[in-house]
Amino acid sequence: MAETKKLLRSLAGETQDVPPVWLMRQAGRYLPEYRATRAEAGDFLSLCYNSDLAAEVTLQPIRRYGFDAAILFADILLLPQALGADLWFETGEGPRLSTITGAEGLNALKGKDDIHDHMAPVYETVRILARELPGETTLIGFAGAPWTVATYMIAGRGTPDQAPAHALKAEDRASFEALIELLTESTIEYLSQQVEAGAEVVKIFDSWAGSLKGEDFTRYALEPARRIIAELKSRHPGLPCIAFPREAGENYIGFARATGADCVALDNSVDADWAAAHVQVDGCVQGNMAPNLMVTGGQALIDETKRIKAAFAKGPHIFNLGHGITPEADPENVHVMLEALRG
Ligand code: CP3
Repeated sequence: MAETKKLLRSLAGETQDVPPVWLMRQAGRYLPEYRATRAEAGDFLSLCYNSDLAAEVTLQPIRRYGFDAAILFADILLLPQALGADLWFETGEGPRLSTITGAEGLNALKGKDDIHDHMAPVYETVRILARELPGETTLIGFAGAPWTVATYMIAGRGTPDQAPAHALKAEDRASFEALIELLTESTIEYLSQQVEAGAEVVKIFDSWAGSLKGEDFTRYALEPARRIIAELKSRHPGLPCIAFPREAGENYIGFARATGADCVALDNSVDADWAAAHVQVDGCVQGNMAPNLMVTGGQALIDETKRIKAAFAKGPHIFNLGHGITPEADPENVHVMLEALRG
């Protein structure tokens, strides 16, 4: 059956006059209604595990803006927690986790099939959303890519250069690779359950892919994505997959073909004309406006929306930012962008 939902049509390779649009982190602190619901939940993690409230914040930006896709409200760091790591968020600073420094920490983690009790509220959020979303809105499930999740598990926090993960890779490759393997396999189980619950598309966020170079990129960014996508598609034939190897640069070329992804998401360091020539030749691309324009707005926001739309107009495209919308964004600027895009 031909796809009727706008986002699924682009993922199936269709070129549309007006591309579908959604925003990374579209449920977030820039929205007053999100801040109110988070306060009701208590804190960010309680919100992630409260299925009714997580579904509510997922729906808020759909009601306000009519985006073509809703992304499940959760976090890539719920998976380490399901595997047994401690996780908490320091206000104003970001995530903290118990650290994996070698074989001992690794052996204390649970197995790939032991995550589902912990993740039950997330699957329930997906089920609520599958029921409640408008018929034209596509539901996206997601997980972090093994490398990106590993960088947080090894450092115990976000790091600008992922040095602790690179160090473990150099000094104890067996433990490092065992962690990537565990994350690859548990990500397959986690995403597969999201699809069973009603996710129509899955997206794999490799936010730190850009710090992997040469052979490391192939082994730890490309290969895990390829395995996850291949296994998901064999369990769920036709499932569209979006890969986001952020700041991969030249490694964006051929990534969709090599991994089997239906779409690659481009970060905003990538020139749109270059990406149209070198990446969109393989199929759908998503992106890639600079998030800061949602803060500054004005004519520059209108011009840049139209420039990116035009650059990708000859092939399948999903309009989005090159990274998440920030807490400082002005909610009115989202309307300005939508007006410039949809006319
Ligand atoms: O709306 C959506 O996009 C869906 C929900 C979503 C969140 N995080 C909610 C969130 C998604 C898809 C993510 C992905 C995620 N989480 C990534 C990959 C994408 C990226 O941004 O590179 C990463 C690296 C994380 C880990 C993470 N979560 C960090 C480093 C932080 C702290 C930084 C920050 O922005 O505060 C979070 C917290 C987080 N995840 C928030 C949200 C809405 C803010 C929490 C709050 O409300 O206080």
